[in-house]
Amino acid sequence: MRVNIHRNGVFSLMTTPSVSSLAQSLGEVPPDQIIFGHSEAMQAVRSRLGKVAAANVPVLITGESGTGKDIIARLIHGLSPWKTGPYVKVNCPAIPGTLLESELFGYERGAFTGAVGSKPGRVELAHRGTLFLDEISELDPSLQSKLLQLLQDGQFCRIGAQEDKKVEVRVVCATNRRLESEIESGSFRQDLYYRINVVNLHMPALRERRGDIEDLSTYFLEYYNRKFNCRARPLSNEVMAVLQKYHWPGNIRELENLIKRYVILGHEEVITNDLVAREPDFFNPEISFDGPISLKKMTRQCVRELERKVILKVLQQHHWNRKQSARTLGISYRALLYKIRDAGLPSNRALRLRQAEKNNADNTSDRTSTTGAAAD
Ligand SMILES: Nc1ncnc2c1ncn2[C@@H]1O[C@H](COP(=O)(O)OP(=O)(O)O)[C@@H](O)[C@H]1O
Ligand SMILES: [Mg+2]
Repeated sequence: MRVNIHRNGVFSLMTTPSVSSLAQSLGEVPPDQIIFGHSEAMQAVRSRLGKVAAANVPVLITGESGTGKDIIARLIHGLSPWKTGPYVKVNCPAIPGTLLESELFGYERGAFTGAVGSKPGRVELAHRGTLFLDEISELDPSLQSKLLQLLQDGQFCRIGAQEDKKVEVRVVCATNRRLESEIESGSFRQDLYYRINVVNLHMPALRERRGDIEDLSTYFLEYYNRKFNCRARPLSNEVMAVLQKYHWPGNIRELENLIKRYVILGHEEVITNDLVAREPDFFNPEISFDGPISLKKMTRQCVRELERKVILKVLQQHHWNRKQSARTLGISYRALLYKIRDAGLPSNRALRLRQAEKNNADNTSDRTSTTGAAAD
């Protein structure tokens, strides 16, 4: 694999044919400035990444699902001295417990019924490259101790083998769980935790880096316009304001899928309707027990979201007639206009525009749906 450094400092990864067949294709990685954006938390990831990529130390990437852990693992490989070596990813929960051991460590002929030949495991295939263990908390205790041995002295044993083998491999692990709690409950080994967590990269949730939502949306819009040969327009300020307020439980993956649907279907209602349907999640706030919890702040946030939901429902019921809606809600027309703006709900003008676009899109719906189906 090669890291291409572009003129503007952006880097992208390219695979070379020498990569083993089991090594994953690295696919396309977004430009540097899109991956890292502007938040402090991501700048901290960037600065640590630069330092650790060159050294062969284990890295633990933590963060909610969809925050970019896979992308960062690929970057670590692409910036490491073994970047031309294999990149082997193992999604631990995807392989059933008993199979996982032979997948990871391989087996010798006759090791178990059905082992007619010998087979190297993924640890071996990652020699002089990167082994990325995704969802590491799912590893059962016996595999945890084998992994510990691998990290301690680079040795492991194929199932049924008489002797240990040695490999040189950089191990990168990822988890969306709090491993400290898994240690407390006895399901994860503390000594293994220290071994895999020599360097920790924590990926912030998208709601903690709202300043990057606009750039990410624009990036995905341009990317999917190109990929699907579509011409979806830039998002309106109103819709952007809605994206800024949403709490993104699925993080960047959720944003990417939403923009992809918008590009294929071509009208912004896709976004507003989708997010409205996901609203119940607003009332299920995530509470982090890491630090102090501001009851006042959380309550205020929930009340605002409740108000937004009620206003939206009433507006929809009155076909966006704001005078009638204000009467139903028992507030003044002016107060309603203010609240609509404050809640990031679409304005009348945006709705009219959208209706016109929708009519347009309906006229060309045959073309777009064919494009979408073919592209997916
Ligand atoms: N910073 C980013 N910039 C652009 N795309 C991103 C970024 N982070 C994640 N993505 C995209 O979001 C999706 C989920 O990312 P992924 O790395 O698989 O997350 P995780 O492994 O944490 O679940 C992928 O399609 C990825 O390309
Ligand atoms: Mg992942």
